[in-house]
Amino acid sequence: MNFDFLERVELAGLKSHWVDWSEERRALVGRLMLAGQGHLFSDWELRGASDGAKEALLLEVVGVDQHYPGGVCGYVENSRRLLEVARSGENPFEGCIPQQPNRVDVRALDGFYDRMEALGARQFAKLGVVMVAGGLGERLGFNGIKVDIPVESIGGTLYLKQYADAILAMEARMEVRRPMPFVIMVSADTDGATRASLEGNGYFGLRASQVHVLRQELVPAVADNAGRLALGDRYELLMKPHGHGDIHMLLHTSGLARRLADAGIEHLVFIQDTNGQVFNAVPAALGVAGDEGVDFMSLAVNRIPGEAGGGLATLVRGESALTLNVEYNQLDPLLRATVSPEGDVPNEEGFSIFPGNINVLVIGMGAYVRILEETRGIIAEFVNPKYADAERRVFKKPTRLETMMQDLPKLFTAEQRVGVAVFDRVWCFSANKNRVADAVAKQLAGGPAESAATAEADFYEAGRMRLRAAGMEVEDAAAVRVQGIEFVPGPRVLLRPSFAMRLSEVRERVQGGAMADEATLILDGPDIRLEQVELRGCSGLVISAVPGAVVTVRGRFENAGFERVLLSGAEMADASVPETVRMRGFRMVDRGAAVFRFDEPGSYVVTPECG
Ligand code: UTP
Repeated sequence: MNFDFLERVELAGLKSHWVDWSEERRALVGRLMLAGQGHLFSDWELRGASDGAKEALLLEVVGVDQHYPGGVCGYVENSRRLLEVARSGENPFEGCIPQQPNRVDVRALDGFYDRMEALGARQFAKLGVVMVAGGLGERLGFNGIKVDIPVESIGGTLYLKQYADAILAMEARMEVRRPMPFVIMVSADTDGATRASLEGNGYFGLRASQVHVLRQELVPAVADNAGRLALGDRYELLMKPHGHGDIHMLLHTSGLARRLADAGIEHLVFIQDTNGQVFNAVPAALGVAGDEGVDFMSLAVNRIPGEAGGGLATLVRGESALTLNVEYNQLDPLLRATVSPEGDVPNEEGFSIFPGNINVLVIGMGAYVRILEETRGIIAEFVNPKYADAERRVFKKPTRLETMMQDLPKLFTAEQRVGVAVFDRVWCFSANKNRVADAVAKQLAGGPAESAATAEADFYEAGRMRLRAAGMEVEDAAAVRVQGIEFVPGPRVLLRPSFAMRLSEVRERVQGGAMADEATLILDGPDIRLEQVELRGCSGLVISAVPGAVVTVRGRFENAGFERVLLSGAEMADASVPETVRMRGFRMVDRGAAVFRFDEPGSYVVTPECG
């Protein structure tokens, strides 16, 4: 590299270090200077002062250079280009007419649903699961990682365990069992704790070799339209998260996407960190994706117009059409400017014709690997600066490039197909992402609370939906309000993935019976059968049985079951009470549920008289 430019710059501090540096280091600094980043060095003291801090800054730059495809200068170049687009006020949807997307309606748990699940289940051996879990979780404000929070408070199943159990249950249903790849994206904020949770819990029964942890790195913040990197401190780059679209980049740069495709994986399902419902929908979603022959499928739910969440729309421009997630704050103006002067309006059912994206994606490996290789995994980056002036020259604070995993179809051509499958909301999506006060406010405003208590309540409700689909009579409890959050507390039904991964399995394993509003039922094991079982009042029945332990349960159970005990004011303020309990405001206490455990294969009958 030619360093003649150094003669022309007044950077005494920088120059004083030149003699110490390797050719590689000089080349990096040289590239930065040519890329308009001289300001990073303009305030440098002479060699001998703050050398450690300067070295740390340079190492940070080296990190960006290594992690970002195209290196740090590629990042600067991309920033400039996207900032110019933002400055010029270019409308990314200019010329697009939004239309209702084609969608497959899988809301009803009926015969069609069973067929889709059956199709999907045949694909389990060719499926990989990808969880994005690098988010800060600022809205929840939990002190640990979100996947270490229990999704329910009777058995205390952690989100991570719930996902691992579903993976193991899918493996158990393969014709020839093979470990299902489980990819977890972490960030500096979640890396250590995620690995500790996996290791401390024996990988939740998975093999360590099937779990692939990929770490996303922060990207530099940018101070102005010229793409000058922002300094947090004299010798410190200001770094910010790049978004969950990093998963595509990491699957590419790690070579993992290619390796999984070569190993016969045909689909990846992308999931979030706290959605206990997601594997209810995965088998049918996989079936729909295969049946429709799509390369990319978004799982969606009915959405109320204006609801703060992306809507899925088919954008038609001339001859071409593409189905995409459009953020709600862009969808309404786009509709007003094109087909609907009133904006996003409800249909006769009260829902937007643009279904809500829940960011659960099924992606076909063929198109995916090709696109990753073409783009080096940089998926539809965007920048969203907040300007301080009308000319859009000054930012209120430094910005950064971002990417979202659902934007992959932006890179599709006419050859790739995008699909949408609309599921019942409670069945497929209920996150735990808001602290109590915010959850109350969201609920009061008519939206979903997305709190620990509602995620738990929805988890049980999905269980009730399964029992009802199998013909059991299940009475809903009256809604309660705890810490200001309203939810329906029961009956509490936990059908573990080992017991059923498909509705048809519940139909085969549960015949008739009834459950009262405060009852609890937990079934864990593939060979449990319920024949006309009744759970009265607040009775609890817990059965766990290893594979090969064929357990037939009959009769009417009446016991003290589990009680939901509210935390006292003192307990709520007591730091020794786990945060995961306080975020709910209650705990579940066993007052005498009937609990049966079968650790040996054999044939067993359980009646209320047993035990
Ligand atoms: P959320 O929208 O829940 O955001 O992310 P968050 O960052 O976790 O939480 P807040 O906004 O700070 O409260 C959706 C999913 O994307 C992951 C999250 O872990 C979650 O599973 N995510 C988000 C990443 O993996 N990386 C990111 O940079 C951002």
